[in-house]
Amino acid sequence: KQLSIIGVPMDLGQMRRGVDMGPSAIRYAGIVERLENLKYTIEDLGDIDIKRPAQKDDNKLDNLRNLNEVAEGNHRLAETVDEVVGKGDFPLVLGGDHSIAMGSLAGIAKHYDNLGVIWYDAHGDLNTGDSSPSGNIHGMPLAVSLGIGHEKLTNILDYQPKIKPENIVIIGARSLDEGERILIKEKGIKVYTMHEVDRMGMSEVVEETIEYLKERTDGVHLSLDLDGLDPEEAPGVGTPVMGGLSYRESHLAMEMLFQSKMITSAEFVEVNPILDEKNKTANMAVGLMGSLFGESLK
Ligand code: ARG
Ligand code: MN
Ligand code: MN
Ligand code: MN
Repeated sequence: KQLSIIGVPMDLGQMRRGVDMGPSAIRYAGIVERLENLKYTIEDLGDIDIKRPAQKDDNKLDNLRNLNEVAEGNHRLAETVDEVVGKGDFPLVLGGDHSIAMGSLAGIAKHYDNLGVIWYDAHGDLNTGDSSPSGNIHGMPLAVSLGIGHEKLTNILDYQPKIKPENIVIIGARSLDEGERILIKEKGIKVYTMHEVDRMGMSEVVEETIEYLKERTDGVHLSLDLDGLDPEEAPGVGTPVMGGLSYRESHLAMEMLFQSKMITSAEFVEVNPILDEKNKTANMAVGLMGSLFGESLK
């Protein structure tokens, strides 16, 4: 199976500089070698071109910071991902801030009737310009993919919605804004917060997730935000929230997803090497990708 790596040096979906260097940090942490060892054919497609705004684009009116540049960058990402999936290859997208999930999902979802999404994250990323406390688009990509939000974002590749609410599972949530909670209830989105992870254990959470998605989807995209992990273990992220998923829980989740054979595309986002300690978070991302693609001790 061919894996196509796509870097997205995007930092315009939030305010902390440095997350645009995420793809480099993950490459330095050895992602290509690691996956080649697992006998995949890897094609590194390099980085998507992200245009810096010519001047500060605060877009106070819609509460969508850098709207045009984020939309354009995601459009280019969507076209590349669309091509990769069209060829029958597995797209592995490296961020960049989480706003890039809009482009990934736009390019992938076209190819499925019922794409499932596992959103591994401390956050729901279900805000709109109206509900967002920050105006940061990285807090909005899941809403956008449901067709909720500014037209320039929801209509990437000229179709919407990309996904259905019943095909989403969020794992690791522990920071949800008021508008996000309302949307989750209204749309019936399945969420395993840290409370459920603690009560049930990660093993059961992932088992249920696999069961749930198996019945209703024809492909599953894993969108893994490194801030889903505990910031003690993954400090290189822009919006850390304490009390997160552990290294061990996360490896277990990746191993179980590998065994399920259900993941058809993936992205690892929000690695910020400037906020990191000796590339720990990028190394974590590479380790998790190793498990997702089949590393095991036996
Ligand atoms: N909910 C907050 C916001 O809308 C934080 C979002 C963080 N998102 C992320 N992808 N790290 O601003
Ligand atoms: Mn997050
Ligand atoms: Mn176009
Ligand atoms: Mn996120």
